[in-house]
Amino acid sequence: MSAVLEIQGLQKTYRSRKGVRRALDGFDMVVEAGQVHGFLGPNGSGKTTTLRTLLGLIRPNGGRMAILGREVPAALPEVAGSVGAIVESPQFFANFTAQDTLRLLADAGGVEPARVFEVLELVGLRDRATDRVKTYSLGMKQRLAVASALLKNPKLLILDEPANGLDPGGIREMRTLMRNLAESGMTVVLSSHILAEIQLICDSVTIIAAGRRVAAGAVADVLAQHASSSVRVRLESAADLAASAGALRQLGAQVTVESDHLMVSGLDRPSAITRVLAGNGVFVSELSPVSVDLESVFLELTGTAPVEGEHRQVDQTVMAPAGPAQGGWGH
Ligand SMILES: Nc1ncnc2c1ncn2[C@@H]1O[C@H](COP(=O)(O)OP(=O)(O)OP(=O)(O)O)[C@@H](O)[C@H]1O
Ligand SMILES: [Mg+2]
Repeated sequence: MSAVLEIQGLQKTYRSRKGVRRALDGFDMVVEAGQVHGFLGPNGSGKTTTLRTLLGLIRPNGGRMAILGREVPAALPEVAGSVGAIVESPQFFANFTAQDTLRLLADAGGVEPARVFEVLELVGLRDRATDRVKTYSLGMKQRLAVASALLKNPKLLILDEPANGLDPGGIREMRTLMRNLAESGMTVVLSSHILAEIQLICDSVTIIAAGRRVAAGAVADVLAQHASSSVRVRLESAADLAASAGALRQLGAQVTVESDHLMVSGLDRPSAITRVLAGNGVFVSELSPVSVDLESVFLELTGTAPVEGEHRQVDQTVMAPAGPAQGGWGH
């Protein structure tokens, strides 16, 4: 098995005076070597909790985790040297320069001083390396954070929301950097709630909603699994829309009624639609598969699609009655 990162059935419950909050509810994740893996989910879905648990910063209530084939947290002391991570915005001494900061970290981690210049160059901070951190913009601090995670040339790089605060140019540079790192053999896991990012950078993706995995696999596969599942159905008479929606729901389809057509998903074969409707004396004038992008898939899978006239609250996830979570790889 070439998995660099493996999580099974992870559980995390936060307890506070206000009660119990189940942040992770049997979460699973597998990341193969040499990939850039996107960890995608809406605000509050459990991304940071997962990464913090993985790095031994908080204790899970159940489940299994392994990094580079070693069970963590037990083997963290042995694997820590091979893992670089930034989880939420790390704090640096405001009066230190980037160069001082990295030298200090390199020294503490037994990394040769020359590596400091390499990582400064890699993240694009070379020309500002001798300025104090307090004079940095948000994006520069983010670059410094990535530089610090790269110091020990890790086998696994874990970045929580690395695009935060970066301008479009910075995002593009970060993307190139991630790809280059992956090509050099590093495995990169990056969390994000920005879909376009994941679609552009990542080979594979895990989508989390409400503490559970709702999809995983190669980005193209995740899209393909959901791409053909939705069909637009127009009828010869719009008066038949409501009754037809009812008939299709009885087949187990998910149906939304629009003003002049139906959107139908959850059926293996679109031919079932024409058969059932014809049986009811209703005729179809259009039956077309609707192609979806990662954004629609994400909104559907995480139950966070906007609803007209409502302000969705962060904890509000209306889980689609779609199939079970997709596990494993390449299928
Ligand atoms: N220390 C804590 N005490 C109580 N609840 C917490 C704590 N940390 C996180 N949570 C809750 O756990 C859930 C998951 O939070 P988490 O930070 O993992 O989400 P996230 O996916 O990283 O979100 P975002 O995209 O906003 O960063 C949220 O409901 C959050 O309020
Ligand atoms: Mg987070």
